Amino acid sequence: MATLLNTIEDRTARDICTQHSDAPAELLEILHEVQEVKGFLSDGALRTIADALNISRAEIHGVVTFYHDFKKKKGAKQTLKICRAEACQAVGANELIEKAESHFKTTLGGESITTALEATYCLGNCALGPAVMVNNELYGRVDLDRLVEISNAHKGDS
Ligand code: FES
Repeated sequence: MATLLNTIEDRTARDICTQHSDAPAELLEILHEVQEVKGFLSDGALRTIADALNISRAEIHGVVTFYHDFKKKKGAKQTLKICRAEACQAVGANELIEKAESHFKTTLGGESITTALEATYCLGNCALGPAVMVNNELYGRVDLDRLVEISNAHKGDS
């Protein structure tokens, strides 16, 4: 009977939860790992995680929507995070942002069909500004040409 009540809609999510001993305190790590393997967090994966960790689906939904790095759909937009804190501004972050807005046809904080541009404030890479982060990978000394290259290199990521 207990088996019928358990929801194992996503085997990968279930296995990752098991590796984390079904610990609710490790929810963020679990979500990141599932997304890394599957490319996004499906409704089935989220229900599986909620059941495995014995937390409510509303709680898990709140976490996933709070953190912008989590994707609920495959092939969701690529997000380019550009640092606009002081050190990066001093070496051209604002110029990079203007050019990126023009190239990607959106504004900082906005999104085009394929790309979202997001401001971030210090990525800990101040000596190598302007700094950019894409899919948790950090890049330094980024100009527009390099940003386009980085964007293209991450196009295959989902
Ligand atoms: S100010 Fe941009 S990485 Fe620190």
